[in-house]
Amino acid sequence: MTTYTPPRILVFAGSARENSFNKRLARLAAERVEHVGGLATFIDLRDYPMPLYDGDLENREGLPANARSLQALLAEHQGLLLASPEYNGFITPLMKNTLDWMSRSDGENSGLALFADQVAAVVSASPGAFGGMRSLALLRQLLGNLGVTVLPNPLAIPRAAQAFGEAGELTDESQRERLDALCRRLVTTLAKLQATSPLDGG
Ligand SMILES: Cc1cc2nc3c(=O)[nH]c(=O)nc-3n(C[C@H](O)[C@H](O)[C@H](O)COP(=O)(O)O)c2cc1C
Repeated sequence: MTTYTPPRILVFAGSARENSFNKRLARLAAERVEHVGGLATFIDLRDYPMPLYDGDLENREGLPANARSLQALLAEHQGLLLASPEYNGFITPLMKNTLDWMSRSDGENSGLALFADQVAAVVSASPGAFGGMRSLALLRQLLGNLGVTVLPNPLAIPRAAQAFGEAGELTDESQRERLDALCRRLVTTLAKLQATSPLDGG
């Protein structure tokens, strides 16, 4: 009999803003991941400040301590759930800078190797009419370039200022269902991969 090991999923938003809609969505997604049998770690990128990537700085000082901390966290997780704000149709500088630093070698280990077997789901929220969906296409592309397998059916929450209730819940039932479905798919995909890993002898 095989025992179920809950897949661990690292959750963050590409916004540092206190009242970020994407942090709200990320927190909600973390809760839903736990509800469907995963183990979620929500982190706030405001707690991991890093300089803008600069190759000279990297040569001089190596990776910032927070990049190493994020790499160590990533190594403890099998999946990612990222909430992407949209700036001018793009992902935010914070999201890009964070993933760029995380992808770098710490001098011994490749940062890219940490991403290679990860599975990710992506979501977004925006006060606008399209919910930040243009950023999602780019985030999916970036994650793919890092070697991450990205699930289909990303969720974009438009009119975000009206989308959340007082307890941080999504007020629209179909959005709640779509978020649940995405979180369930992420957890079950990772659980299936775990169960069939040749390294586990399964
Ligand atoms: C520089 C900049 C560009 C923006 N461009 C877009 C955009 O292209 N599409 C969009 O839906 N919202 C855009 N917005 C509005 C953001 O969606 C809004 O600020 C949102 O609250 C950011 O996400 P957060 O709440 O998670 O911080 C932009 C905001 C900024 C500051």
